[in-house]
Amino acid sequence: MRNRVTRRQFLDHSGKVAALAAGVSLAARTRRAPAADAADKFTIALIGCGGMGRYKLNNFMETGQCRVAAVCDVDPANAEMAVKQVVDKLGAAPEVVKDYRKVIDRKDIDLVIIATPDHWHAAPMMLACQAGKDVYCEKPCCHNILEGRAMKEAAARYKRIVQVGTHQRSMPHIQAAREFVQAGKLGVVSMTNTYTYGNNAPDGLGHEPDGDPPAGADYDMWLGPAPKRPFNRRRWHSSWRWYFDYGCGMVGDWNVHLQDIIMWTMGVTAPVAVSASGGHLVLTDDRDTPDVMQAVYEFPAAAQAPKGFVQTYTMRKTSGKPWSAGGYGMDFHGTNGMLHMTRGDWKLEADRVDWEKPDSPFRTEGFERRADGADGAAHLDHVKDFLASVVSRKPPIASIDQHYHTVVACHLANVSLKVGRKIFWDADKVMCFTDRELRTPDAQANALLGREYRKGYELPAV
Ligand SMILES: NC(=O)c1ccc[n+]([C@@H]2O[C@H](COP(=O)([O-])OP(=O)(O)OC[C@H]3O[C@@H](n4cnc5c(N)ncnc54)[C@H](O)[C@@H]3O)[C@@H](O)[C@H]2O)c1
Repeated sequence: MRNRVTRRQFLDHSGKVAALAAGVSLAARTRRAPAADAADKFTIALIGCGGMGRYKLNNFMETGQCRVAAVCDVDPANAEMAVKQVVDKLGAAPEVVKDYRKVIDRKDIDLVIIATPDHWHAAPMMLACQAGKDVYCEKPCCHNILEGRAMKEAAARYKRIVQVGTHQRSMPHIQAAREFVQAGKLGVVSMTNTYTYGNNAPDGLGHEPDGDPPAGADYDMWLGPAPKRPFNRRRWHSSWRWYFDYGCGMVGDWNVHLQDIIMWTMGVTAPVAVSASGGHLVLTDDRDTPDVMQAVYEFPAAAQAPKGFVQTYTMRKTSGKPWSAGGYGMDFHGTNGMLHMTRGDWKLEADRVDWEKPDSPFRTEGFERRADGADGAAHLDHVKDFLASVVSRKPPIASIDQHYHTVVACHLANVSLKVGRKIFWDADKVMCFTDRELRTPDAQANALLGREYRKGYELPAV
């Protein structure tokens, strides 16, 4: 924990702040005081009990600071697996609900974990903020840019702590590599690259006819804001991310982690231009997100890039072998050399620097720092960072404010891909333009910044 404010002090304070911000009566916002024998425990709930939700639930329980009051899923089979985890670890069974609004309504719940598919983050997150709860929301925080802005505003309005699940920020070796770049040791950085490769050819998700949803599952609620369509397993648990109705393809799913470290390290908040090429070129499945993509970003001047820099994202689901390094990574190219990062290491290659000098950071060509096991440790540390912020009321390491910058950059690549041209971005106006001078709004691109919400599942007005 970052300081020694007691749980009771924090609840008293944050309850008042949220109440004032929301303009509602204090009584309506005052939560039950924690029981004396559990004064340092957080009462939490999980919304979305799939693969990641259950993984995160374990992290929260592992901290020893949380009691689990409820788990929520539209599919009882996944909810039951979460219940078993809780019973195995903590002994007491949580309440099981299908409708997340029942979680929001429970006054005793302090924190919610949101690990639904991307199209179902915004509404629960915003309503949880309004109800005075802090939120750990999985990445990418939003299905589209306007949703992300509304979520960021809800967190600010109700003064809630919102951590997004870009846990790479909690990896010590990535923090060290970031410091290396920020200290100017790479020289002037002109280009950064992120990449994710895999080979799912020829069939990708495969082929399966439409059918019936699993018994007991509330498929209509699962669809939520997305268009109504017959049930198909390829669009259901886990593989929904390859359809724009629910997810945002690889650039928002995986690259959001990588893009986040590039922008955090370089200290930039928005690209000035984005151009993406690609499509569904090889796999025979019916995904509508690309299986091949190249996005090129232009970023403005930054501390280590006085005249700006170029960032590329390269994605293939059709050919998994890179010439060097692994199947994903982040590279920074500077006048002194190159820095390569993954979740397991970072390494340097000197370029025109006197790396023989004893004090040179490039002294050993191919300098490498291993960080095996960093991924699992960082998931837990990311949760601990969130809980510390909940107490201190200081922003967490991956606050929604910061994540918003990254997720916008990811979504813009999809916008450019869909309109088939380079777009210029005005982050203040949250608008795309067709020209660098930002004179002519790009109506077609701007129409893609939000989505159409199915009736009854509109974004809540909070
Ligand atoms: N941080 C990471 O490294 C990481 C890794 C994987 C996934 N994720 C993110 O976690 C989230 C979940 O991904 P996943 O792979 O676990 O997906 P998943 O499909 O396995 O799980 C999602 C769960 O949410 C449930 N759900 C859907 N709509 C709901 C609703 N309205 N109310 C309650 N439950 C609902 C589904 O039934 C399912 O059980 C996504 O946003 C994903 O991007 C993050």
